[in-house]
Amino acid sequence: MGLLTTIVGKKRRGKTTLVKHLILTGEFKHIYILDPQAEFLALATPPDNEDGSPGRRDVGLLKKELPMIRELILSTKKYIYVKVYRVEQDLSDFFYEIWALPAFPKLIVFDEVKTYGKTNPFIDYLYRLGGHKDMELIAIAHRFADLPLETRSQTDQYIIFQMTEPRDLKFLKDIVSEEVVEEVKRLRYFQYIKTEL
Ligand SMILES: Nc1ncnc2c1ncn2[C@@H]1O[C@H](COP(=O)(O)OP(=O)(O)O)[C@@H](O)[C@H]1O
Ligand SMILES: [Mg+2]
Repeated sequence: MGLLTTIVGKKRRGKTTLVKHLILTGEFKHIYILDPQAEFLALATPPDNEDGSPGRRDVGLLKKELPMIRELILSTKKYIYVKVYRVEQDLSDFFYEIWALPAFPKLIVFDEVKTYGKTNPFIDYLYRLGGHKDMELIAIAHRFADLPLETRSQTDQYIIFQMTEPRDLKFLKDIVSEEVVEEVKRLRYFQYIKTEL
């Protein structure tokens, strides 16, 4: 319980797309996403209508998704909450919204976690104490150096897409073998490796 997963790798390698798949195919029924680039909106559960019937998903938004994902989105019984991050206040609002929820299992996603800085009190608090509220966290960043310090120190598993920057490879050397570092340098688009720490 309370697994902390961090996804790193260069731009356009498929990090965000992988998380969409994990959300739609994984076991979590309740997912909360803070989304600086509004990339998860098509997954969001629409609000109920005034008569209490479930709202309709905006199929227009789904057109860009792969057909298989679209079917999954339309059939899913999950509750997916997406808050698009625009201004600083959105992070604290998101934090208080999710912290006020009862302790049922939930997945919290921070895409582009660099957006919130290296030492952010809300992010740090969730990484230290989220487990008590039955939260699993996923953070996504381009580089190890972009991760909040608390995220880096608490991560249970990394999912690593291609990285080539010497400073990232140096960090990587401390947590995986030389062979894995070489493998990470040579990963192609959409390929990744997973390391448990
Ligand atoms: N496994 C995949 N197969 C085919 N296309 C993919 C795959 N993963 C990502 N893509 C496409 O590649 C582009 C970049 O993916 P994205 O998930 O946004 O990357 P990142 O979040 O790492 O920047 C998107 O257009 C996405 O649809
Ligand atoms: Mg992305």
